Amino acid sequence: MRESVGRCPVSHTDYRLATPPAGHYAFLDREREESRFLWNDGADTGFWMLTRYDDVLQGFQNPETFTNDITSALNPQRGIDLLPQRLGGEEHAKLRRVINPYFSPTAVRRMERFAVDRCAELVEELAPRGACDFVARFALRYPTDVFLVSLGLPPSDGEFFVPWVEDVFGGFFGGAQNKARAASDRIMDYFADLVAERRARPLDPREDLVSRLVEARIDEEPMPDRDILTVCMTLLLAGLDTTRSALGYMFWHLARHDEDRRALIADPGLIPAAVEEFIRLYPLVIQAGREVSRQVDIDGLTMEAGDVVWLGIGSANRDPRKFPDPDRFVLGRKGVNQHLGFGAGRHRCLGMHLARVELAIVLREWHARIPDYRIAPDADLVERGGQLTLTSLPLEWDL
Ligand code: HEM
Repeated sequence: MRESVGRCPVSHTDYRLATPPAGHYAFLDREREESRFLWNDGADTGFWMLTRYDDVLQGFQNPETFTNDITSALNPQRGIDLLPQRLGGEEHAKLRRVINPYFSPTAVRRMERFAVDRCAELVEELAPRGACDFVARFALRYPTDVFLVSLGLPPSDGEFFVPWVEDVFGGFFGGAQNKARAASDRIMDYFADLVAERRARPLDPREDLVSRLVEARIDEEPMPDRDILTVCMTLLLAGLDTTRSALGYMFWHLARHDEDRRALIADPGLIPAAVEEFIRLYPLVIQAGREVSRQVDIDGLTMEAGDVVWLGIGSANRDPRKFPDPDRFVLGRKGVNQHLGFGAGRHRCLGMHLARVELAIVLREWHARIPDYRIAPDADLVERGGQLTLTSLPLEWDL
């Protein structure tokens, strides 16, 4: 195997593989300190890695050179169509203008009442049990319910949505492709019924996303059904796995750091800052992939048109050049909201306000009912690769 390409060291790390919790951050930290740029040959297609904060930010801010023809360096073939991710330039801006109002801070407030009530209900069901797998019993369930209700759908449909989304994600990063394809077909069929229903009986387009998509005009043309379905599918895939994963890391941290948990219980006003610091410290989307559109040189690293680039969110968020003492959870850290956990530039996360609100609600409502808990002593924790998540988190507490 080659050990350098030009002046670039080669990383053989396969970021799709599972590790113990935080195992991927250890790889990322090591590689960022080894070199500003690396060539990675650990996945099926080789790619350039930008590992440090300033370069990663520049990459996000330069979409003409680093295009969204690819969005994951680990999966550049992209089995599943995503909207608005795959669009660039004006086309992307026009679609974002249609969807953005539904995910603005003001719009998200309209989901808050349900989100608080549902969270309280789920935690109250769990509290008398004294133990649960936090991922299976709560983190997978809660964001799904909020998402379904935000689309005007019954939360009970989460029963079948959760396994479908699991199968699709499994397929993204090397798991069974036929299962993933079957699950994405089922999701598309489900949304096809929803779109047909809204076409027949539209709801208020200011309140209901699908009704809005159905009546939206882009360049005076209605959106094709296929695009509406793809937007719904994208929101589901982009919103559910990320939020449940963020919850897993937050509770993995808090179960092991009594002082941080107690600080949040003593002063819930600290919760929004805590959410931001959690997203910085435990980025789950560890990379955004991009395709190079023309030959480009960054301080001696020459990339050719068609090359794949890894914008290293996971290594940038823990770059000591940007965030002093980066591996520590620091409540009230200065400049924390400059983290790249939600990306940056024009593809910055559409659902970040919703995610922040959901995560803050869970921190408040869970700790009001179950303030002390620990990781079960026999727990065997695994971190999925690709887009990081803890596959289970057995917690226990005294009754
Ligand atoms: C903690 C939770 C979340 C994290 C860490 C997260 C992270 C990210 C990141 C890093 C990107 C940029 C990807 C890139 O530039 O290629 C992104 C984009 C996106 N996110 Fe999120 N996300 C979260 C929650 C959500 C939720 C709840 C939704 C939907 C309801 C959502 C929908 C989207 C969409 C649609 C995009 C693509 C935006 C575009 O291309 O214009 N995300 N997210």
